[in-house]
Formats: sequence, C-alpha cells, structure tokens
Amino acid sequence: MKKHIVVLPGDGIGPEVVAQTLKVLRAVETKFGVSFTFEEALMGGAAIDATGSPLPEATVAACKKADAVLLGAVGGPKWDNLPNAKRPEAGLLGIRKELNLYANLRPATVFPELASLSCLRPDLVQNGIDILVVRELTGDVYFGQPAGEEVRDGKRCAFNNMIYYEDEVRRIARVGFAAAMARGKRLCSVDKCNVLVVGRLWRSIVEEVHKEFPQVELSHMYVDNCAMQLILNPAQFDVIVTGNIFGDILSDEAAAVAGSLGMLPSASLSGTAADGGIGLYEPVHGSAPDIAGQDKANPLATILSAALMLRMSFGLNDAATAVETAVRNVLKAGYRTGDIMKDGGTLIGCTKAGDLVVEALLK
Ligand code: IPM
Ligand code: MG
Repeated sequence: MKKHIVVLPGDGIGPEVVAQTLKVLRAVETKFGVSFTFEEALMGGAAIDATGSPLPEATVAACKKADAVLLGAVGGPKWDNLPNAKRPEAGLLGIRKELNLYANLRPATVFPELASLSCLRPDLVQNGIDILVVRELTGDVYFGQPAGEEVRDGKRCAFNNMIYYEDEVRRIARVGFAAAMARGKRLCSVDKCNVLVVGRLWRSIVEEVHKEFPQVELSHMYVDNCAMQLILNPAQFDVIVTGNIFGDILSDEAAAVAGSLGMLPSASLSGTAADGGIGLYEPVHGSAPDIAGQDKANPLATILSAALMLRMSFGLNDAATAVETAVRNVLKAGYRTGDIMKDGGTLIGCTKAGDLVVEALLK
C-alpha cells in the first residue's frame, strides 16, 4: 500500500510535534510494510510570512490530491493583530471549507495512567471516560452569511448568522449515529432548541435520521445543560453530536475533563474513505507559542492523530492500534512531557517522546 500525505506543520510547536509524528509514521512503514510519501505545504502564520496568505492556493491544490492531511497547529501572537480574514485561523477555516471537512471527530478519553490530570474529582473519573464529540465543522455561525460589522442608528454593530441547511444536519447526524453504532450505541444530540429556531430544525432532522439507526439510543440535551453534565457526570456520555460553535466549546470542555489537551487527537472528514472522502488529522491543542522551539511540547496528540489517520483514511487498523499501544506503553513506563507531569515520572522533551514511541512500536 502506498499513500500520499500532505503535511502542514504550521506555527509554534506545530513543526516540532509533526516532526516526531513523521518519525512514527516511518516506523509504521518499516513494521507494517506500507509506504508513505510526505509533501510539506504552508498554512497559517508560516504561510502568511512566506506568501501573504494563510492558505495559499498551492496548499489547497496539494491537499486535494492527497490521500490524507496531517496538520500541526496554527496561530501565534505575531499575527494576532491582523484582520480576521488574514489571520492564521482563517487558513484552518479555509481548508475545512475547501476540503468539505464537515465531520470533526474529537475523542476525549481518560488514559488510566493520567487519570489524576482530570480537573474533576477522582470519583467522577475513576470508572473511565470515553466520550466522542462529533462536531459539525463547515456550517453554523462560523460560515453563515450575512456576517459583518456596520453602523446602524449611529451605533457600531456586528453580526454573524447561525444557519443550518437540512442536508448539513442530516449528514453530520448520520456520522454521529454511525459512530455510536461502532461504540456504545448511545447518541446525545446537543442543541438550544428552547431558544433558537436553528435548534428546532436540528432536532427534527436528527430525529428523522434516528429512524435509519433504530438500535442507537438517542437523547437530546440543551447545550447549557450539556456543559454542566460534562462536569457533573461525564461518564454518562458515549457520543455527542452537535453544531460547529457548540462543538467548539464542548470539545474543549471534554478535553479538560479528560485531562490534558496534550493527549487529544482529532479527525476532520469529508466522508468515509470508502466514499472517497478525505481526512485531515490534527491535535486538538493549539500552537503553544510560549514553549515553541524549546523541545518541551507533547507530540502524543499528533501521534495519536496519525493513528486515527491510519485507521480512518487508510484502513490500517492493526498499525493504528499498534501506535496507540506504543503511546500507552511510553506512559506506562512513566515518561511524561511537562504538560502531563503530575505525580512524578521521568520528565522528557518532545524529541525524546517521539523516540520512545518509535522504540515501543518497533519492539
Ligand atoms: C478548534 C479551534 C478553531 C475553531 C480555531 C483555531 C479557528 O478552536 O479547532 O477548535 O474555532 O474551530
Ligand atoms: Mg476550539
């Protein structure tokens, strides 16, 4: 098997965590007899500095031809004062739209070795937490038109449009139900239909799609209650499906509940690989400019994102599991980057973490 991967290292710690992940993918080639070609492209602040645009045409073209895309992180203080459309984040939003990556999968799992990192009381997490947030990624207030800033009645005002089309809700609902079928068969759909008409449409479409997946137990929750339930009783959740803005917020919250942002991978998909969909894989954490270039970053979330790539885009289930197991074994052996160092262990840097995962994988 030969696969072409476009690599977008991005900004801050992005290039460091991506470099470690490429080492792990090289080890996967050796161990599993597969072959990857890597093509680096510019996105985010790095692209702004080199070309003036956060998402150069050449990057979009390269990604469209790839079998999968691996992204580090984008953004940093250097570009914070640019107008929204020129910021590094616009590159991220742009690639999501260009590749039609409407389904964002963010698993939030507590690694038993790292349970003490959860911000919650031990009794709330001791039975494990395994939540999958399925976030719609190409609609909602993020992209709704009209959006802008103007003067009305002599006062400055700004507006974004929360809008969903039924087909957008239908396809993400299907992803949520399908994911639930492959796991605990429970899906919680999150909306704000007590206030927003968008939520009413959302809920009615989700109920319609439920008929295609009768084995899945469906529940509905208002987003404010969901934010509270994630803290009060996170173990109640299996899969959560929700819109773009609510998913943005709830997935960060689920990450804090799980422990460290430094451990969480994500997949953004335009459909299943079988349907010709493409996937972009990235850690949930950001570019952490404060520790960039110091070999302090935790590469495990990016390495785990590569594992998702192996499984979801390439169907290499054994290789994916092997990478995940290698990460677990490094944690079990007590190695920790600074962000996940709490109850002792051996402090390691980014490069060492990558080396250890490779070593564990090739054992
Ligand atoms: C995320 C991030 C992005 C988002 C930002 C960086 C544009 O917070 O992927 O969750 O809001 O989607
Ligand atoms: Mg976010």
